Amino acid sequence: MSEFLQGWKRTDYCTNFSVDNVGNEVTLMGWVQTRRDLGALIFVDLRDRTGIMQVVFDESLMETDFAKAEKLRSEFVIAVQGEIVRRDDETVNENLPTGLIEVSVKRLKVLSKSKTPPFEIDDDKAVREEKRLKYRYLDLRRPTMQNNMMVRSKISAAAREYLTDNGFLDIETPMLTKSTPEGARDYLVPSRVHGGSFYALPQSPQTMKQLLMMSGFDKYFQIVKCFRDEDLRADRQPEFTQIDIEMSFVDVDDIIAANEGLMAHVFKKVMDIDIELPLKRIPFKEAMDRYGSDKPDTRFDLELVNVSDIVENSGFKVFSSVVKNGGSVRAINAKGCVDKFARRQIDALVDFVKIYGAKGMAWISMKEEGMQSPITKFFSEEDINSLLERTGAETGDLIFFVGDTDKVVFDSLGNLRLKLAETLGLIDESVFDLLWVVDFPVFEYSEEEKRYTAMHHPFTSPKDEDVDKLETDPAGAYAKAYDIVLNGNEIGGGSIRIHDTKIQKRMLHALGFSDEEAQENFGFLLEALKYGTPPHGGIAYGLDRLAMLLLGCSSIRDVIAFPKVQNASDPLTNAPSKVSAKQLLELSLKVTE
Ligand code: AMO
Ligand code: AMP
Repeated sequence: MSEFLQGWKRTDYCTNFSVDNVGNEVTLMGWVQTRRDLGALIFVDLRDRTGIMQVVFDESLMETDFAKAEKLRSEFVIAVQGEIVRRDDETVNENLPTGLIEVSVKRLKVLSKSKTPPFEIDDDKAVREEKRLKYRYLDLRRPTMQNNMMVRSKISAAAREYLTDNGFLDIETPMLTKSTPEGARDYLVPSRVHGGSFYALPQSPQTMKQLLMMSGFDKYFQIVKCFRDEDLRADRQPEFTQIDIEMSFVDVDDIIAANEGLMAHVFKKVMDIDIELPLKRIPFKEAMDRYGSDKPDTRFDLELVNVSDIVENSGFKVFSSVVKNGGSVRAINAKGCVDKFARRQIDALVDFVKIYGAKGMAWISMKEEGMQSPITKFFSEEDINSLLERTGAETGDLIFFVGDTDKVVFDSLGNLRLKLAETLGLIDESVFDLLWVVDFPVFEYSEEEKRYTAMHHPFTSPKDEDVDKLETDPAGAYAKAYDIVLNGNEIGGGSIRIHDTKIQKRMLHALGFSDEEAQENFGFLLEALKYGTPPHGGIAYGLDRLAMLLLGCSSIRDVIAFPKVQNASDPLTNAPSKVSAKQLLELSLKVTE
C-alpha cells in the first residue's frame, strides 16, 4: 500500500545541497534509481528531475522503517527524512554534483510502488523508439529527456520574456477555425451543430494575427500549436509549436532587427552564448547558386560552381543540351579528396545524387599521375583548362559535375555538399551558424499543379518595385520575405504582408483563385483590409526545431513530450482511433471504409 505525505514537506530538490548543508535535517522525495544492499547498510540513489542524491539506510541508526528499505525496488517513489552528512573518503563520487555528501536516513515513507519497468531508466541503454513512446512517461524520466524538456521550457520562457519586455502582447487565436493557407493539408473537425460542415485546425495563426494588426494591437506574439497534415520527417510533426510574431508600421529591416534581439536573448539565456549581430543576410538566389539550398549550412565551404557557359558548346552532348534547354551544369570541388574516395565510393555518390533526380554525375579525379575522368575525352584541352580554372582544381582534388534543370542540379549538389561535409567531418558542431535568407521569389512554379504557387503564403508582399510583375513577369517577382536558418535548418520564416485590398486580390488572381474562390476562402480578410490596415509583417519560428538544434538532437521527437510517429499515430494513446456509431451519427458522418 502507498503511504501518504501526512505533513511531510520536501526541503528541496535532490541536487540543491552541498557540503555547506552538512548537519542539516532534510526531507527529500523522488524515485529509486538503484538500490545496493549490503545487509545492515542499504544505499539508494534517489532521483528527481535535477539528478541524484545518495541516501543511506543504516539499520543500527534507524529506529523503525529499515524493513521498508529492504523492500525498495527501482522506480518506487519514496520520501526520506534524515541528516546530510559528508561521505567517507572512499565513497566520494567525483562524477556526481552531490558526490561529497549523502543523506543518513532516519525515516522512510514508500509513497508508491512500481512494477518492474519495461526498460531501465538509463540514458546508456538503447531502447527501440516505438517502445519508448508507448511508455513515454517512463522514457521522459531519463536524464536526457528531462534536460530536453527543461531546455525547451527555458527557450519559450526566454522568448516570452524578451517579447513581453519589448511591448508584444500575447493574444490567443482560435483552434477551431477556417482553413489557413500554409500549403499543407488541413486537419478537419466535424461540426455537430452544423452537420456536414467542418472546422479546420490552424496550420498557423497567419490570418488571425493579420486581423489583430488591423485591430490596432501593433505588436503581437503567441507560443502556439499549429497543425499540418503532411508527410512526417525527422524535423516535422503534424502538430508543432510556433513562436508566432506580428508587428505593425514596419518594413523588413525593422522585423529583422527585432528578431535579432530575440535570438540574441534566447541564445544568451539558454546557452550562455553571445551571438554576433547583425546576422549575415544571403539573398535567396545567392544561397541557391553557392550552396544549392535556401537553407544553407555555411559552417563549411564546398561551394557550387556554375560551369554552364564553358560546357554549353562542348562535345559532351549531355551537358551542352542541358544548357541549351535552359538548365545548368554545376560542380563541386572536393579539395584534396582524390584518395578519400575509391571508385566504388564515387559510384555510391553517383547513386546518392540520383535520389534527387540527377540522371548521372560526372567527375574529374586530379591524380598525381594525371587526370582520370569518364568525361574529359569529350572536351577540348581548352575547355578542360577552363573547367579546372573555374573550379579551382589542383592536384589531389576530386570534382563532381551535375547537369540538369536548375531544380535538380541544386537539389542533388546541395545534398551532395552536405553528405560530403558529413563524410569528411568538415562540420564544426560547436558552432551555431545563424543567418537570414532574404529576397525570396514571390512564386514557385508547381510542375504537379501546372501553376504558380506562393513560395511563402498568399499574403506576402511583393517588393515595392515588383508589384506590377504579378501579372507581367511572375517568375521575376521578388518578395519581402525572409527565413532564419540555423546550421542548415529553417527555424523560422516570415514576410511583410500585403496591406492593400487591390494588391491582395491581384495576388490571389496570380495564384489562380477566381473572384468567387478568393471570396469564399479569404473574404473576411479581403473585407477587413478595407477598413484601415497598417503596413505590417511578422515571422514564425518552429519552437520544436529550435529546441532540437540547440540541444543537438537528431530528431524533433526528442524535444516533444508526447510526439507522433512516422504514420502520425501516437503509440501511447493509440490515437487516432475509431469512434462509436453514436458519435458518428451525432456528427452526421458515415465512414465508408
Ligand atoms: P512557415 O510555414 O514557414 O511560416 O512556418 C514557420 C516555421 O514553423 C516550423 N514548421 C514546422 N516545425 C515542425 N513541424 C512542422 N510540420 C513544421 N512546419 C513548419 C518551421 C518554419 O520555419 N505563418 C507563417 C509565418 C509568417 O509568415 O509569419 C508560417 O507559418 O521552423
Ligand atoms: P554517358 O556518356 O551516359 O556514359 O555518361 C558519361 C558520364 O557522364 C558518366 O559518368 C555519367 O554518370 C555522367 N552523366 C550522365 N548524365 C549526367 C548528367 N545529367 N549530369 C552529370 N553527369 C552526367
